[in-house]
Amino acid sequence: MQRVLILAGDGIGPEVLAEVRRVAEWFRDQRHLPIDLREELFGISAWQRHGTLMREETWQEILASDAILFGAIGSPDYDGIPFEARKVDQLLRMRRELDLFTNLRPVRTLSALAAASSLRPEVIEGCDMMIVRELCGGIYFGAPRGIERLPDGSERAVNTTVYTTAEIARIARAAFELARLRQRRLCSVDKANVLVETGGLWRKVVQELHDTEFPDVELSHMYVDNCAMQIVRNPRQFDVLVMENLFGDIISDCAAMVAGSLGMLPSASIGPLRGDGRQHALYEPIHGSAPDIAGQGIANPLGAILSFALCLRYTLKQPQEAERLEHAVENAIANGARTADIAASGTKSMSTREMGTAVCAELARMT
Ligand code: IPM
Ligand code: MG
Repeated sequence: MQRVLILAGDGIGPEVLAEVRRVAEWFRDQRHLPIDLREELFGISAWQRHGTLMREETWQEILASDAILFGAIGSPDYDGIPFEARKVDQLLRMRRELDLFTNLRPVRTLSALAAASSLRPEVIEGCDMMIVRELCGGIYFGAPRGIERLPDGSERAVNTTVYTTAEIARIARAAFELARLRQRRLCSVDKANVLVETGGLWRKVVQELHDTEFPDVELSHMYVDNCAMQIVRNPRQFDVLVMENLFGDIISDCAAMVAGSLGMLPSASIGPLRGDGRQHALYEPIHGSAPDIAGQGIANPLGAILSFALCLRYTLKQPQEAERLEHAVENAIANGARTADIAASGTKSMSTREMGTAVCAELARMT
C-alpha cells in the first residue's frame, strides 16, 4: 500500500483536487492500484477550523505519506492571520524537511491547444522538454537572510544564494539519469558569467559528473538569460534542462506558454531514496492558488490531474497507468473539452467538474 495524502490547500486547490480525487479513486477501484487515500485540511481552511495553518497531526500524516497530492497555497485571507502563525511557509517547509530536492516540470505541447498559447503554433509544435529544478537550496533557503534598519532609517535587505558540491551533484545526477531515458541531451543552465562563485561551481560540478559518469549524454551549458530567450524562440531544441531553484522557478513559468496554459502543467517534487526503501514525493500543479477565480468552479483541473499521472509514474511505479491517464487527458482535449483558460475566445467552456468528468469518461472508454 502507498499512502497518498491529499492537501488541497487554498484558492482553487480544493476544486481541482476534488477532480484529482475522483481520478485517483478510479485507478484504485478500477485498476486495483494499492492506493491508501487520505485527506487533511491545510492552509486557510485549517486555520478556520483549527486555528492553525497546519496541525501537528497533519504533519505526522505528511511524514508517514509516500505521496502528497498538493493543491495550492496562498490567499488574501492570510493578511487576517497573525504574523507568528503564518511566518513559516508550509509548502517550503515540506520541500525542505522532506528534502524534496528534485523538482520535475515536464512541458509538452498539445497541438489541440496550440491556439491557447501566446506563441505561434509553428514555434511550439512538437515541443517536449523536462525542466529539472533544484528545490531545496539556493536563494530560497540560503543564509544570511534578513532585513536590518540603517542609521538613516532606511532598510537593508539580504538574501543569499548558496550551493555545495553535493547539492549540485545530486540534482545533476537526477537530470542525467532522466536524460538517459529520453533523448540523452541535457542543458545545464546557470549564470556563471556573473555569479562566478555559485554559477561557476554549478558548471564545474555538472561537467565533471558528465565526464566521469554520463559521457553518453550530450551536455551543453547555457546562461539563464539566454535560456529564457531560447525557450520562446525555439523550445524544440531542448530535451532535459537542469537549473538552480530560483532559475527553475522563473524559467518554468516562462515555459508554461509552450504548453499553452499554466493550468495544464504538472510537477513532481521527489526526495532521496531512504534506507527503508521509501521515498517522499509531492505532486502539485504549478499554477498556484489563483484567488481571482477561486470558488467559481471554472479552474482547469488538468495540471493537478496530470500531476497525479506523475504520481502514478514515480511513486506507484506504474508507467503504463501514468500513460493511460495522460492519454485520457489528451483524448478529452482532442474531443473538445475546454475550461475557460484553454478555450478559444468566444467559444463555450466547461466547468472544473465537467472537465474531471470528461477525463473519467475517457478513462472508462479506453479501458
Ligand atoms: C512554484 C511557486 C512557488 C515557488 C511559490 C508558491 C513558493 O512559484 O512552485 O513555482 O516559488 O517555488
Ligand atoms: Mg513558480
